[in-house]
Amino acid sequence: MRFSGKTVVVTGGASGIGAAIVRLFACEQAVVYAADIDADGGAAMAAETADETGGDVRFQLCDVTDPDAIRQLMDRAAQETGGIDTVVNNAGAGGARASIAEIEPEEWDRTMDLLLRSVAFGIRYAVPHMKDRSGASVVNISSVAAIGPGYSPTAYAVAKAGVLNLTRCAATDLAQFAIRVNAVQPGFINTNIFTAPLEMDAATEVQAKAAIAHVSSGAQPVARGGQPSDIADAVAFLASDAAAFMTGASLVVDGGLTLGPRQSWDPAQPGITATLEAMVKAQQPA
Ligand SMILES: NC(=O)c1ccc[n+]([C@@H]2O[C@H](COP(=O)([O-])OP(=O)(O)OC[C@H]3O[C@@H](n4cnc5c(N)ncnc54)[C@H](O)[C@@H]3O)[C@@H](O)[C@H]2O)c1
Repeated sequence: MRFSGKTVVVTGGASGIGAAIVRLFACEQAVVYAADIDADGGAAMAAETADETGGDVRFQLCDVTDPDAIRQLMDRAAQETGGIDTVVNNAGAGGARASIAEIEPEEWDRTMDLLLRSVAFGIRYAVPHMKDRSGASVVNISSVAAIGPGYSPTAYAVAKAGVLNLTRCAATDLAQFAIRVNAVQPGFINTNIFTAPLEMDAATEVQAKAAIAHVSSGAQPVARGGQPSDIADAVAFLASDAAAFMTGASLVVDGGLTLGPRQSWDPAQPGITATLEAMVKAQQPA
């Protein structure tokens, strides 16, 4: 029980990765504040998780694009429990899909507010309540999209790269308070993030989820789909005393997705050298 008696705030806790993080901390006896813009889903998740884990899960309606709502969330957690030990800035969505050739200023700003400014103020408004806690830390959810293009639309990738540098800058700013700040970069994790922005009926959604599961299980060297619990495990490690000497760091948790081109690990996809070798072999008389 690494988090017994600790207070943990998780944004975007109603679904996917956030819900798995809430569950893990609840299982390890933290008081968990799960914040989300989804009132019904969040309340249901909190009740179900508390029921199944025997933990203390408290839902707070919160739109992380509103800094004042973030402040209220942090103030509530601190007032009710005496302080905050861990903040997980996780809430997010795919953001604007347009390329840089077409994106409008409002779409750009909306994406940055949701994915980058929310993290800055998730830290900013938690700090007053974390200063006096021993072993306090922040974990920010970035993405493999921060590494380069191709994993997401442009605005999302830029925001997630910003989260990485914000993580490093905040780690230095907050060293004086002994608050550690780290990040996790998930790879392809099967959650609602892929289906939520699309309007689809229930039958199509079932098909879409099956298609995501199929694609995600073959997308990287580790031959299975990434699960929200894979990310929750990394978050809990960074928040725990086992990571007491880590700050400003980021863990890539992607099953090897970003290791290199597919031919480097998939025998069914020969690269240029293997292709040329096969051609040379084929030209030789039998
Ligand atoms: N799933 C992946 O493959 C993947 C990969 C890399 C990074 N991520 C990141 O992981 C985080 C969680 O995403 P997920 O995959 O679990 O998606 P998800 O859609 O299952 O969960 C996202 C949650 O955030 C909430 N949310 C959205 N906008 C919000 C707002 N304005 N205020 C408060 N809550 C809001 C949603 O209601 C939802 O509950 C996101 O930051 C996402 O960018 C996901």
